[in-house]
Amino acid sequence: MKDLGLNEIRKEFLEFFREKEHNIIKSFPLIPMDDDSLLLINAGMAPLKKYFTGELKMPGNRAASSQRCIRTADIESVGITQRHGTFFEMLGNFSFGNYFKEEAISWAWEFLTERMEIPKEILWISVYEEDDEAFSIWKDKIGVPEERIVRLGKEDNFWEIEEGPCGPCSEIHVDRGIKYGCGDPDCKPGCDCDRFLEVWNLVFTQFNKDSKGNYTPLKHPNIDTGMGLERITMVMENADNIFEINLVKDIIHTIEDISGVKYKTDDKKDISIRIIADHVRAMTFLVYDGIIPSNEGRGYVLRRIIRRASRHGKLLGIKGKFLTEVVNKVMEIYNMEYPELLRDKERITKIIASEEGKFQETIDQGLSILENLIEDAKKSNLDYINSEDAFKLYDTYGFPIDLTVEILKENSLNVNLDEFNNLLEEQRERSRSSRQSGNVGWANEKNEYLINLQESNFIGYDNMTAESEVIMILKEGDLVNSLSAGEEGIVITETTPFYGEGGGQVGDTGLIKSETGFLEVFDTKKNKNNGIYHFVTVKEGKINLGDKVNLYVDVDRRHDITKNHTATHLLHRALREVLGDHVHQAGSYVGPDRLRFDITHFETISKEDLLKVQDIVNDSISRALPVFKQSMTLKESEEYGATGLFEDKYKDIVRVVTVGDKFSVELCGGCHVNNISEIQMLKIVSESSVAAGVRRIEAITGRKVYEVLKDDESVLNELSDNLKSEKKDLAFKIRYMHIEVKTLEKELSKLKEKDSLKGSDDILKTVKEVSGIKFITHRVSDMSVDNLRALGDNLKDRLQSGVVVLANVAGDKINFLATVSKDLAGKTISAGNIVKEVAKITGGNGGGRPDFAMAGGRHIDKVDEALSSVESIINNLKK
Ligand code: ALA
Repeated sequence: MKDLGLNEIRKEFLEFFREKEHNIIKSFPLIPMDDDSLLLINAGMAPLKKYFTGELKMPGNRAASSQRCIRTADIESVGITQRHGTFFEMLGNFSFGNYFKEEAISWAWEFLTERMEIPKEILWISVYEEDDEAFSIWKDKIGVPEERIVRLGKEDNFWEIEEGPCGPCSEIHVDRGIKYGCGDPDCKPGCDCDRFLEVWNLVFTQFNKDSKGNYTPLKHPNIDTGMGLERITMVMENADNIFEINLVKDIIHTIEDISGVKYKTDDKKDISIRIIADHVRAMTFLVYDGIIPSNEGRGYVLRRIIRRASRHGKLLGIKGKFLTEVVNKVMEIYNMEYPELLRDKERITKIIASEEGKFQETIDQGLSILENLIEDAKKSNLDYINSEDAFKLYDTYGFPIDLTVEILKENSLNVNLDEFNNLLEEQRERSRSSRQSGNVGWANEKNEYLINLQESNFIGYDNMTAESEVIMILKEGDLVNSLSAGEEGIVITETTPFYGEGGGQVGDTGLIKSETGFLEVFDTKKNKNNGIYHFVTVKEGKINLGDKVNLYVDVDRRHDITKNHTATHLLHRALREVLGDHVHQAGSYVGPDRLRFDITHFETISKEDLLKVQDIVNDSISRALPVFKQSMTLKESEEYGATGLFEDKYKDIVRVVTVGDKFSVELCGGCHVNNISEIQMLKIVSESSVAAGVRRIEAITGRKVYEVLKDDESVLNELSDNLKSEKKDLAFKIRYMHIEVKTLEKELSKLKEKDSLKGSDDILKTVKEVSGIKFITHRVSDMSVDNLRALGDNLKDRLQSGVVVLANVAGDKINFLATVSKDLAGKTISAGNIVKEVAKITGGNGGGRPDFAMAGGRHIDKVDEALSSVESIINNLKK
């Protein structure tokens, strides 16, 4: 066997297939493009689906790659088994209707036995049980002895994912020797033990599986192969498991250094070390690829991975944050293949550190609550905790349910996840219904007419009106021939000037007129094909299929929108200038009244920086820079220097919006002003956090700024009149008044205290005695808690030995206070017990220490009764 490590094996693999005339493609990001069926890229073929189906063409129809992948289905097994990881690289060679089984099999064999020099005797093969063709290629052409070829069923040797290309497969396994095995003399591939390690999967992709589970034969059979890079490295380095290959060992050493725990001295701790060693790689690449921790989808996968790693750090005894130190090591190790990681170091580490910090804030609180729940369950001999409690832990303390389950498991407890999910769903439903807009509910992404709509002729970049013909009308989800006065529905025309909501920009509103009808357009959307549809209410008459119509966009509203849209580009530019190049757009909303711009950034943006940003934008506006909109190929746009959101980057022809002499250059399909002087002015109105590492800026432009300035001015005028102060002196005046109020409050409180103690002589005279204990009860009203305490203490001190119980009625609230002198305060005569009993009579409760306690009450009419019960309470306690 050759002496090669991970980086060299990757290189050799790609080189081998380059020689076999494959296009070598760089790893795609982990976020799938244009593929809703998949959360994260989980195989080399996943980003290439369109080549398999024939939608896209690859020159030469052959490719090979080392694709970074994430699989979290087995996350619980990571660190425990020898071969599971959430992050791995998959080496793969692909044929898109080009070569088939024979070449795929021969090349795989050649690579392993000749390039890697793996002894043939330790290689075993499995084929799909009905695949005689593959069986005979292995046996007759390659010469693998029949007894080392195993036929397995669909579960093992038919490869498929949710949707997309799939087919029977053949796997190559390495026999690692009896010491890894289960002991069964008949043990062979297909057994669950660790002896036979599957290293390479050759899929003979013949079908396409759709979302309903139907298999359709593909026009041309394809080849999709996948070899786990870490697994083959484990074989080549003769390592025990995928964590002990040289490169990952370096990560383990870093964890050893930070934690002071030596690997291989404690089985439980080893698991934690391996989990961290895996998860840090996953989080580094997830964040690099633009994912941000959140509570949903990919963001949740990332959050879960960071939090899991952080908790295992805690189990190793690491205090405080440590992940970024390990992440730095990951970047260093992967620098050869992924130099871009180090270039993006600041952003990656900041996002991870911020999530880790957040988690640490919640984890201690959550852990101690969970520990109590566990203790209670054990005391009550239960083997579960309540799903409501687990949900509360998740909902209120941000404690991830997976972590709850994991910790429960460690304590041999469980929680009903179905119930938990029901609670979660109920909560989501609540927040969904609170977000529902007034839109036509059925017009969602599931309506087949809307999904299949073809591209419309959109002329609205330059025109606000159009003449066209009605080509489709929908009512409650179905096709209809007409809509009449008062009805709502969707109208589609061949040509339209209406912009369909997209890229953050809201849809246009306006009017549609025909000879027989008059319609209000209250929203416009578009589908994936850029098919534009208008939401309408028929105001007068009737609209029919085939009618000739005139369409009119609400011009003022549109103009406000375009101002805001161009303003987001200026903001983007200014934010990068002030905060740094780590700032990327993370989302936006562009409406007529305001704009919202989300960016990747990790801390509150200071007031000074916000002002700087605002100044840069307004300064550019005052320079009246022109705005150009051009179409070009993606490649040209890159050379030209355009930035833009990921999603826009995968079209052949892109639209580039340039301000001035490349002051800002962005890929964008939205509507923009012709000269930025039209924006008039931009004013930032708020800055806030949306998620870890994402800040939100809200701003207004144009006439809205003028309106706000006018409103602000009238507030200032009113203040200035009322406070009899010049505008410029208002701030000082208000600060001064604050100080004055505080001083007066203090004085008042002192006076009140004096006043409250004034009566204490009289109160002292009402002292009574029961079972040899002196006690005083007294009712006061509208006292502050501080003064009540002062009175209680004063009476107790002067009584020297005894019990004081006070009731304070303030508005509709009752406070009880009990205080017991030192010599008496103890288990029997306890202020806590007394006040509890007293408060109970008025429907309240509370408690506290033996010498001092307070409680609240509810029924004011019971206060006297409660106070007069003190005598018998003391008497009873004394017994
Ligand atoms: N797509 C195949 C796999 O992931 C090669 O195993």
